[in-house]
Amino acid sequence: MTDLKHLRKDFPIFSRLIGGRPVIYLDTAATSLKPVRVGEAMLSFHRQFPANINRGVCRLSEEASRAFGSARENIASFINSPSASQVIFTQNTTQSINIVASSLPRLAGDRKTIILTEMEHHSNLLPWMNLAGAGFKIKKIPVTPEYSLDMEKYRSMIDRDVAMVSVTHVSNVLGMINPVKEIIGIAHDKGAIVMVDAAQSAPHIPLDVVDMGCDFLAFSAHKMLGPTGVGVLYGKKELLEALSPPAFGGGMVTAVSDEEVVYNKLPQRLEAGTPAVESVLGFSAAADYLREIGFEAIRDHQQALLSVIYEKLPGIPGVKAYLPPDPGMNTGMALFSLSGLEPHELSLILDRQANICMRSGMHCAQPLVSSLCPGGLCRVSMYLYNTVEEIEIFLDVLKKVSHDLG
Ligand SMILES: Cc1ncc(COP(=O)(O)O)c(C=O)c1O
Repeated sequence: MTDLKHLRKDFPIFSRLIGGRPVIYLDTAATSLKPVRVGEAMLSFHRQFPANINRGVCRLSEEASRAFGSARENIASFINSPSASQVIFTQNTTQSINIVASSLPRLAGDRKTIILTEMEHHSNLLPWMNLAGAGFKIKKIPVTPEYSLDMEKYRSMIDRDVAMVSVTHVSNVLGMINPVKEIIGIAHDKGAIVMVDAAQSAPHIPLDVVDMGCDFLAFSAHKMLGPTGVGVLYGKKELLEALSPPAFGGGMVTAVSDEEVVYNKLPQRLEAGTPAVESVLGFSAAADYLREIGFEAIRDHQQALLSVIYEKLPGIPGVKAYLPPDPGMNTGMALFSLSGLEPHELSLILDRQANICMRSGMHCAQPLVSSLCPGGLCRVSMYLYNTVEEIEIFLDVLKKVSHDLG
């Protein structure tokens, strides 16, 4: 096992005691913890160059603009974007997907089908459902009993009426990695545009937009050790240029008169208003942190944690676990129920008894979760800062709760 225990000192929450006990944070898929370094990068803006960017000629503004520009370059290299101008800073994955969805009518020509999967987060579902009024219909790639996508079915669904295929790279419920490169190849053969929701893959898998071949990609800083308030919309240049700006205002124009508006080039054209400068700086620091640890070490560590889960969770009396059969395809999640307790009740008990933070309910993926269990489910999601000891405590507490239920 790649032991990442030494990293825990970078996450101040582990030195906080609640009721005399440390916190066991198993809810990274909702939002990750943030290392001190990320907060320090954000503070550098407040302390050293707290001026607006790309607006002033004073030195503070120039410094802030330079730092912001370098952060964009850094995020671009993190996903191997051919240019930094193809990295648009948004609020989060949700906004990135909405920006593309609202332009679909102008990108689609006379194509009217959107293909999603049955495992989408609401953020990659509702923006497309909202296009029903514009005549678009949605088809979904089914999820098999092994929790993978039914690729045969997908091949039979795709035709020249498909305008957009928008799929999650990793399921936020199952942790399952989807074969996005194959999905993209099949879609491109029919001339469809492909958007990848990388909210759950960015923390776990090295992203390479060129190799993947996606047309659009969306992810959020806060799930990959970064701060809230910033996400990315990556796109191929000509497609980004075809999007309608999500907002109009300062920073996105080069000239304005009563008669005419001349829009700025990418990325500013799609980023009206003052951006979340300090969050972008924190985001860049998070990308550096992940790079230094390396995705291979993160994966090895996750697999060690998962092996304990796969070995012990399904055997706890009353537990029903919903685990992808191959742990190698799981980025570190475990979905489960305990008979006799509602998911929120169990979550509350684990929190109050042992400071275990986990998610319960529909996980913003109600179509999938309610098809597995109409009352909702619990999910633990693990990351580089979790330890085998924490997983053992979680399993022991769960066993005791199950035992006490009789
Ligand atoms: C797969 C997936 N897509 C989209 C989102 C939405 O991300 P955000 O809330 O940062 O916009 C999430 C958040 O949980 C997610 O897991």
